[in-house]
This record gives sequence, C-alpha cells and structure tokens, in this order.
Amino acid sequence: MRVLSGIQPSGQLHIGNYFGAMRQHLQLQAENECFYFIADYHALTANPTPADIAQHTLDVAMDYIALGLDTEKTVFWRQSSVPEVTELTWLLSCITPMGLLQRCTSYKDKVAQGLSPNHGLFAYPVLQAADILIYKSDLVPVGADQKQHIEVTRDIAVRFNNNYGKILTVPKEHIIESVAVVPGVDGRKMSKSCGNTIGIFEPQASIRKKIMRIVTDSTPVEQPKNPDKCNVFALLKLVASGDELAEWENRYRSGGMGYSEAKKRLAELMIDYFKAFRQKRTELENNIDYVRGVLASGAERARAVAADTLAQVRQAVGLRK
Ligand code: ADP
Ligand code: TRP
Repeated sequence: MRVLSGIQPSGQLHIGNYFGAMRQHLQLQAENECFYFIADYHALTANPTPADIAQHTLDVAMDYIALGLDTEKTVFWRQSSVPEVTELTWLLSCITPMGLLQRCTSYKDKVAQGLSPNHGLFAYPVLQAADILIYKSDLVPVGADQKQHIEVTRDIAVRFNNNYGKILTVPKEHIIESVAVVPGVDGRKMSKSCGNTIGIFEPQASIRKKIMRIVTDSTPVEQPKNPDKCNVFALLKLVASGDELAEWENRYRSGGMGYSEAKKRLAELMIDYFKAFRQKRTELENNIDYVRGVLASGAERARAVAADTLAQVRQAVGLRK
C-alpha cells in the first residue's frame, strides 16, 4: 500500500507532533511503501521569513531522520522540489467548487488565530489534494484536524475521474487515534501557535524546566488526586511502562504524593525516551550534506512519479502537445 503524509516546517517539532503523528508515520514504514514530505509550499501561507522557512525545513528533515525515517526505503523530500504539484493544483482548482473550500474550517480557524486571509491559505486544501493525488496515494495518515482536507481530496478525485476518466486514485484517510490530544504545559492542546510546547530535541535543562512548570490543580500533597484530570499524568502515559504507570495511578489515588515528584520522574522518562534519537540528531547536525543528499534523492524519486501522473492529467483534460 502506498502511504503518504506531509508535515509543515512551521517551527520546532514538539512531542505532540511526535506522539500524535510522526511515531505512527514511522511505524507504517515496516509494511508499506511510504512517501513523506516537508510541506514548505503550505508553510508559505503563513508568510514566514525566508531564513525561518529554510531553517525549519532542515530541522524537520533532521528530526524525521533522527527519529527513525528509513532513508533507503521511504521516499522523503521537500514539497517544493517537485513543482509539478503546483501545476496539478491549478488543474484541480478548475474543477473544485468554491463552496467546498468555503466549508473548510481550517481556513476560518487560521484567520481567527491571526493569519492573513491570503488566497494561498484559502486554496490550501487544493494543494493538499494535489500532494495526495499526484503520488497516487492509497492511505493518508493524519491527525483528526486534517480529516476534512482528506474528504475534500476524495471529493476532488471523484469529480475528476467522473469528468475525465478514471485516472486518480481515491485515497482513504487513516485518522491517527491511538493517542488522544497531547496537552501542552498550560493544559491546552500542545501547539506551536499556543507557545505551550515541549520540543522533542530542545535542551534537556529546558525540558526539565518546562515540565516542572506544567499546570496542575492545587490539591494538597496528602489528599488523593485524579490522574485522569492531570496534565502530568497524561504525559506520563506516553513514556512510562505499563507497570510504572499503574504504580503512579495508585499513588495519585491514595494521596500523599506531590505533583512535583511526578513531574521530576516525567522529566527523566521523557529525556530517556528520546536519548538515542538525540544522539543521532547531533550527528546529523554535523553532517548537513548527508541530510541534503537524502532530500535530493527523495525528490528525484518523487518527481518521477509526479511527472507521470501530471502527464496523464494534462492529456486527459485536453492540454495536448
Ligand atoms: P501545531 O498545532 O503545533 O501547529 P501541526 O498542526 O503542524 O501542529 O500538526 C502536525 C501534526 O501533528 C498533525 O498531524 C497533528 O494532528 C499532530 N499534532 C499536533 N499537535 C498535537 C497534539 N497536541 N496532540 C496530538 N497530535 C498533535
Ligand atoms: N496540512 C497538513 C498539516 O498541516 C500538512 C500536509 C500538506 C499534508 N499536504 C499534505 C498532510 C498531504 C497529508 C497529506 O498537518
């Protein structure tokens, strides 16, 4: 099965991204043909500085490789290295009803968050559809927030095939639900735009500091506490073994435990969890040429597939030589 997903280079990747998306992307590599890319065209909709987008793109590449991306097997590239996808976006735009895009909630959400309502932001789901369809993807693993975009993709693909013949593969979505939303240090959903993240590879001292500042309620030490309502426990669930978690649950419910004790242990477990990956990340930082090489060879492999689909689509709509 061909699996495809993209992640935007819009800032430092955090543990919400890892447990909510990247870990599953990496697990899917074992049994599938995976196509993963860094969605830099999409990131431009937020008007980053040229220096930021370039740096974040390299950072995402190093993060993925350090966390276990199989650079031989998986096709991994930068979206903008395959400009064919923007031509397909245009061809698909011409059959995409305005109403379909007007219904998309992510545009409204992003504008409400303060992004400028530019045309790229509005047309974003069509570029995402082109990403998925140009590689004839079967399965698209994404977080629940992207479900609507996959539905838009399916709708566009069906429309195209009805108009011009069965050329495009209608993908299935694969909503990643194994992990509930990872809370940030303030208890809201961890998100770059909320400034409440714990970066996967941020300095260990900073991870410790942030974890010690996680918002908890004010139940006194001696009283029992509810683990199901605790942000610290929600993060412990991600990194503690089953036995250890059961022990913490018991200690929460029995009383006599302070949150700072749980936080200290959480910081140790979190740092340990990413220890080997962190070492690999440092090696990559010292070998940027290797990282660029991985992206270049991924782009070549991706581009061959994209060019083939685009040629079929051009022919089908009547753009013949
Ligand atoms: P952010 O909210 O930080 O901007 P993105 O929207 O770029 O993150 O998310 C990239 C991927 O990571 C998506 O698939 C999304 O579902 C997942 N993700 C982001 N934050 C979380 C979270 N707090 N919990 C679980 N998954 C998350
Ligand atoms: N919009 C996705 C996000 O913000 C990133 C993305 C772009 C993507 N193109 C894609 C995801 C294609 C899956 C498939 O998370």
